[in-house]
Amino acid sequence: MLVLGIESTCDETAIAIVENGRTIHTNVLRSQIETHKRYGGVFPELASRQHVDHLLPLIEKALKEASFSRKDIDLIAVSYAPGLIGCIVMGLNCAKALSYALDTPFIGVHHVEAHLYSAIMSREKEATYPALGLVLSGGHTLMARIDDIGSYTLIGSTVDDAIGECFDKVARFLDLPYPGGPEIEKLARSGDCTKYPFKAGRVKEHPLHFSFSGLKTNVLYSIKGQNNDKTAPSILSEKEKADVAASFQKAAFKDIVKKTILAAQMENVKDVYLGGGVTNSQALRDMFDKEGSKLNFYFPKKELCLDNAAMIAGLGYHKYLSENASSLDLEAVPRKQL
Ligand code: KG4
Ligand code: ZN
Repeated sequence: MLVLGIESTCDETAIAIVENGRTIHTNVLRSQIETHKRYGGVFPELASRQHVDHLLPLIEKALKEASFSRKDIDLIAVSYAPGLIGCIVMGLNCAKALSYALDTPFIGVHHVEAHLYSAIMSREKEATYPALGLVLSGGHTLMARIDDIGSYTLIGSTVDDAIGECFDKVARFLDLPYPGGPEIEKLARSGDCTKYPFKAGRVKEHPLHFSFSGLKTNVLYSIKGQNNDKTAPSILSEKEKADVAASFQKAAFKDIVKKTILAAQMENVKDVYLGGGVTNSQALRDMFDKEGSKLNFYFPKKELCLDNAAMIAGLGYHKYLSENASSLDLEAVPRKQL
């Protein structure tokens, strides 16, 4: 079954063609980073307008690259939740119009569930369950027990900032461009991670929940001086900035690794699947490898970490086999739990 995937929940317009949930024929995207950079984050109205401009040319590009025609597509899968409402609507309406015009079924897919699936589809062997899943992205930070594709129990999530959002904000304090995660990773390589004793938060009575806002504030005060706000100038030298980046990155990832190992023990699972933009970090992967005990950590292929449509098409295939196709009344949902 050939599935055309459409992703437009935030600032990437992405299209992919995936066969039977796994074989990627093509996976293309148009990033809007250059547009949003000057605002230090995503400007929603501009993002949705760009999706309109990019969707159809990207679909044509994907079909051409993979040498398929529109008629070869058996199913259209599209992210319908969660994300920026105006952005989701653009991809969803495109999927509905194509579905109607080509008489091809379409299915709505949960974007965060697709991030979980991205490591499952990247693994050469079929996954077995139960397993643990982690999503570490710009908008979401959560842990779930996976009993099957489509069957999840949420066991931990952030009570304030998402991990990627925290990297983006700290990057801004350090005068680094958006998106901040890769910039912090780069700067941290020349820094000393033992220089600042940062720590991520603990959530009382919820050992698997995350809290990054206290960490972010401590980092802010180290960069700008105690009790200063984010508009104050930095008081650090370039070397000290690198030390802050390294110490912050270490503190944030140490917390994630520790809670993941605890969750795996509590759920008695050995396999852990990780997804979302932050899993692009080699520093994070190295830390899991080093601290990882007897667990197996599965990361997405690099091109499936950040927002992409291959994970949408891949998950859409499984959803279509277990559920009916979506109807044309399916609405975009900006906030939706897994
Ligand atoms: O999954 P994603 O593309 O978008 C959402 O669904 O949110 O994730 C984007 C996030 C951004 O916050 C970005 O700063 C972060 O992933 N990110 C990283 C790295 N690469 C991307 N964070 C830390 N280290 C990285 N190397
Ligand atoms: Zn995402």
